[in-house]
Amino acid sequence: MLKGKKILVGITGSIAAYKTITLVRLLIKAGAEVKVVMTNAAKEFASPVVLSTLSKNKVTYDLVEGDDWSNHVMLGRWADVFVIAPLSCNTMAKMANGLCDNVLLAVYLSATCPVVIAPAMDEDMWHHPSTQRNLEQLVKDGNHLIKVGNGELASGLFGEGRMAEPEEICQYLIEHFFRSSELKGKKAIVTAGPTYEAIDPVRFIGNHSSGKMGFAIAEELYLRGADVVLITGPTHQKTNYNGIQVRAVVSGDQMYDIATREFNDADIAVMSAAVADYKPISAATDKIKKKLDEWEITLIKNKDILLQLGKDKKKGQFLVGFALETNNEKENALIKLQSKNADAIVLNSLNDKDAGFSIDTNAVTIFHSNGAEVTTGVKSKKEVATDIVSFIIKHLHA
Ligand code: CTP
Repeated sequence: MLKGKKILVGITGSIAAYKTITLVRLLIKAGAEVKVVMTNAAKEFASPVVLSTLSKNKVTYDLVEGDDWSNHVMLGRWADVFVIAPLSCNTMAKMANGLCDNVLLAVYLSATCPVVIAPAMDEDMWHHPSTQRNLEQLVKDGNHLIKVGNGELASGLFGEGRMAEPEEICQYLIEHFFRSSELKGKKAIVTAGPTYEAIDPVRFIGNHSSGKMGFAIAEELYLRGADVVLITGPTHQKTNYNGIQVRAVVSGDQMYDIATREFNDADIAVMSAAVADYKPISAATDKIKKKLDEWEITLIKNKDILLQLGKDKKKGQFLVGFALETNNEKENALIKLQSKNADAIVLNSLNDKDAGFSIDTNAVTIFHSNGAEVTTGVKSKKEVATDIVSFIIKHLHA
């Protein structure tokens, strides 16, 4: 998403400037073109030599260097986005009042691109009325604010004022400025994670699904431009993309209710959740005491969400299921594809030690109902998600 994008990074005097070195590295790794402009105070915290080496561009920190006047207007015009991270209390106050006593401020005042600010300061400074007043002014002026985090601060105190992490800043830039338009106007629903089927108020039947694959697919659909509803069972996963509508559920029944409702006006549905196939016929209202030596629980089949969506499917809707097979993999996956009336089925290979539930890598084969087939090989779940979404886009209107 960041390939070829021009990103101007502004750095001001704050301890958090060390994190901006990582930010520059992440942006370059993602294919962006990066230039850095910094205040003189920032040079105490992050070396221009490191920054120019990483960004592969000369770092600007003086309005006049030797006999050369630095063309700040052109820097602000060159960039697709100008991100100031960290933004110190001092520079924030100057920006809010239109001061222009260094090159970073001159670039800010002449920038024609969107400006993103990621403040960093100690908690007491952060909460000071003048800081909050300046911040409000900057937001009113049209700047985009990346919220500060809560945690350990340079002073050793804990509280609000930490600059957002480099990964979050990267994701913010992608989400707000660089999502692709391939799926613009399309709605996608994704199920993810396990479901927990209650035995009593404290016990349940569940499985080891981490939700990683489903979250990665939801994020990829979102980055390609879709409006995404992510229906997830209990997992530790979280997404930093605020635009993804996350609906947290616990049981298969809850997932079924939301998925069938949301599918009505969806264009794409990807069922990657490991829904428990069976649930206790009834859940005890009180905790069951351990009186018996043996205990039998009667299980009944859970509602099959994919099967139901296959029945409800209207023309133009694209339905994707997952299959986990241990024998006759292809044959069983194709039976599942047909019996559930899906348009595509993603076969997880259990025979590969680098593919599976809790790890970060996976390997899949995607089968289309028209006979098309793609195998990914072992990749990160994020890369597998990219392949799955590319497959969906390719076949959506074929
Ligand atoms: N699925 C679902 N609702 C269920 C069960 C499964 O939506 N109650 C979906 C899964 O999200 C996945 C696909 O169906 O997309 C998996 O199909 P399923 O028949 O459940 O596969 P297995 O659990 O492997 O079943 P089997 O034991 O019959 O192979």
